[in-house]
Order: sequence, then C-alpha cells, then structure tokens
Amino acid sequence: MPDYVDMIKKAFSGREAPPLCYLHSFGCQQNVSDGEKILGVLCDMGYGVTEDMENADLIIYNTCAVREGAELKVYSLVGNLKKLKENNPELIIGLCGCMAQQEKTVEKIRKSYRHVDLIFGTYALKELPRLLYTVLTEKKPVSDITEYDGVIPEDVTSVRKDSIKASVPIMYGCDNFCSYCIVPYVRGRERSREPGAVLNEVRQLAEAGYKEIMLLGQNVNSYGKKLSEPVTFAELLREIDKIEGDFRIRFMSSHPKDATKELIDAVIDCDKVCKHLHLPLQSGSDRILEAMNRRYTAEKYMEIVDYARSRIPDFSFSTDIIVGFPNETEEDFQDTLDILKKVEYDNIFSFIYSIRSGTKAALIEDKISDEEKSGRMRRLLELQREITDRRFKRFIGRTLDVLFDGESNKEGFCSGKSDEFIIVEAKADPSVIGQRKQVRITNAFNWALQGELL
Ligand code: SAH
Ligand code: SF4
Ligand code: F3S
Repeated sequence: MPDYVDMIKKAFSGREAPPLCYLHSFGCQQNVSDGEKILGVLCDMGYGVTEDMENADLIIYNTCAVREGAELKVYSLVGNLKKLKENNPELIIGLCGCMAQQEKTVEKIRKSYRHVDLIFGTYALKELPRLLYTVLTEKKPVSDITEYDGVIPEDVTSVRKDSIKASVPIMYGCDNFCSYCIVPYVRGRERSREPGAVLNEVRQLAEAGYKEIMLLGQNVNSYGKKLSEPVTFAELLREIDKIEGDFRIRFMSSHPKDATKELIDAVIDCDKVCKHLHLPLQSGSDRILEAMNRRYTAEKYMEIVDYARSRIPDFSFSTDIIVGFPNETEEDFQDTLDILKKVEYDNIFSFIYSIRSGTKAALIEDKISDEEKSGRMRRLLELQREITDRRFKRFIGRTLDVLFDGESNKEGFCSGKSDEFIIVEAKADPSVIGQRKQVRITNAFNWALQGELL
C-alpha cells in the first residue's frame, strides 16, 4: 500500500504553516479516547491541532449514536458548518465514530449535508490517511464504514488534551447485546488488548506525570476472556496497581452480570484503585432486566453491593438508569426506586429510553406515553436528590483525597474529584491544579462538596 502519511506530509511541505485540524468527540470516554488516537494519526501527517473551529483546515466530529438526542445534536452542528464551508471551500469536513458507522447516517449525510467531505466508521483509523489523501487530491467526498478486522491499533500515539487525567482503553467493542443498545452494532465484537500493552501504556503515563488513569471498556469485567492466555480484570488491576508512581486508578463500565467478589477484593486491596464502582443498574425490575437482556436480577445486583459494603461500609456506587423502557409499568418503576433507596448511590446518570433502530427493543410496541416517562424521570431525580443530599452530608468533617483539575466558577476556588468521584471545591491557589490534596469537608451542596485544604 502506498505510504499515504508520507504523501500527505509531502503535499503540505510547501506551506508556510502546518494545516490545522479541529476535532470534537461526543459520547462516552471510549469515543473521546478514539478521538485522541485520530488526532495522533492527523499529527503524524503534519496537522497541528486547534481549538478554534473558524481557523481550522479540517473539522472532524467524532459522533455518538447511543440516543436519538446525541444524533440530532450532531446533525444540527453539521448543518451549521455549511456557512464555514461556503466561506472557505478548501475546508474539509469529516464525520466519524459510532453514528458514522451506520449506513443510514451515510445515506442521510450524502443526501442532505453535501458539504461533508469525509465519513469514516469506528474501524477505519488505519484507513484515515488513505481516505484523507483521496479527499485532498481528488476533491470528492469519501466514505468508509467497512468493518475491518478490528485489530487494535497499538502503534498510534494519542494526542491528549488533558495533562492530569488519562484514559486507557483495555478493550473494544461489546458482545452483550442489551436489547435497547446500539453499541454492539456500531463497535463490533469484544476484543481485549494484551495485558503487556496496557501495562506499558500506564507505565508511560505514570512516568509522564499523569495523576489519574481511567481504564475503559464497555464491560471491563469480561476483560481478557478471549485472549490466547486469558487474564481476568481483577488480575490486570492488581498488576497495574504495582506500577510505581503517584497516580490513582479508575475504571468503567462494570457490567453487573460479570461483577465478582474477586473484583471487589482487588479494588479494596489495591491502594491506587479508587473505592468507587460505577455499576449500571438500568432497571430494578427483574421483568424489565430480562427484556433488556441484562442477564442479572435485582437480587444478584444487591449481592455485589452488599458484599462491597460488608468490606467497606461506605463503599461508593454510581449507576446508569434507563427510564421508560417499552411497557415499563408503575410497579417496575417502583422496583427501580427501591434499589435507589437501598443502594444510596452517590451519583446517578439517568436517561429516558430512546428507540435505536436495528435493536431488539425497537420492535416492541410501547404503550407508555412520553408524559408518563418524563413524569417518572422527574420522580427519579427528585428521589436521588434527597439521597445525594443525605449521602453528601455524611462527608462533613471528614477528610477526602482530591485531585484538583481546574478553577471553580467561584472566585478564588479550585475544584477536583474525590476518590468517590464527587466534585469537591476549596479555596486554593491555581497552583494546586494537577495535584492531589487532602481536603477537610465543611459543606455539602446537592452537586458538590466544599472544604478546606489541609
Ligand atoms: N457499556 C456500558 C454502557 C454504555 S452506554 C454499560 O453497559 O454499562 C451508557 C448508558 O447509556 C447505558 O448504561 C444506558 O443507561 C444508556 N443507554 C444505552 N442505550 C440507551 C437507549 N437506547 N436509550 C436510553 N439510554 C440508553
Ligand atoms: Fe450497550 Fe449493554 Fe454493551 Fe453496555 S453492555 S455497551 S449497555 S450492549
Ligand atoms: Fe460511546 Fe456513544 Fe459510541 S456512548 S460507544 S460514543 S454510541
């Protein structure tokens, strides 16, 4: 294959300044991490990175398809780019990521958004130089959503915006096929990175001074099952924990069907691992969980929570909830509220069910009205607000380990996240940004804690 990276580099060599690319990733952290790799490939070809869209020679939206809202937002933003393209016909506009991986998106873009030059899916990172070269030289739109072999690109250097926290994907794809979810269709089958590759990357990040490493996968608990020498996620965590350096470790997401005592034990034993688990519940009703193809019951879910709390009474949990899955009854919804009361999450991320065509749940005829669904959402958030309020108050007087990552809106204050993944702000000089500090909590708000530096 011709060396397209080199050919593009040469094509740019006569320019006074390097061409600039602007990339924005929507959706989950996995997608953000892919965006960092795409930037890595673009920088190899000679692009510089800009945060200013108006000055860019190449604009890429790295999209998410998980809910309809995410897709509508992208269409509206892509529509807005038409003006920029009219003012600068040399501008290249690209769309990639999960939404781009769907045939129907390519058709719609080709039909109604003709100013888009480049569409590539979630498998096409390696093809990007070839695709971009075609756009640059042939001045015609190109798209590629082929499901290439899914080999994990280990030789691409990510370009990371953040110098404090870094994400490290440990696996790609998903095999779970939860009935509502588009992810397995746009990201393909589950594949794990070799433990050696993960350990090397974490080692490099620790040496570069990163203070927090987030291990990523759609279901980290099934990590390593298909490797030629199988490794469990708990084993991987223990190995990463041994890497020298002053950093903490987080991971997401954990699927409850694969969450084990072994995992909880590893989290508790490993000093660097935050004592917090993001454990998406989705629903507290066994009937709905079955229709969702989640393959656990509310009882099994509570066993994990109870085990963690039997070892650390204050173990912190957060979760994802879907409200209004097709034909969810009031009783089903009450079951979800019950689990919220039992677990007392520190934080929840809740979503109204969104039909994704191509998934199994999209075929179910739904009798629940939109009003009813939004009413339930309001009640869910109200209950969680009371719970967070109570949970957060318990921190007053206690000392938390906070990694400061920015200035807060309040003059003279900086903010960061505690081990429990809770926002904490404190009066502090911006020089604390990038450092872990002990903070004594003095006040609790509904969305954050406030305290004093020790
Ligand atoms: N792999 C992760 C979740 C990835 S998607 C896991 O299983 O935990 C993030 C969240 O989006 C899901 O947990 C779910 O709560 C929500 N979600 C996914 N598909 C959805 C849909 N069709 N409608 C509404 N919410 C959805
Ligand atoms: Fe979607 Fe389920 Fe896979 Fe998560 S585990 S990405 S919700 S199919
Ligand atoms: Fe993530 Fe959205 Fe894709 S949640 S995996 S970017 S569909």
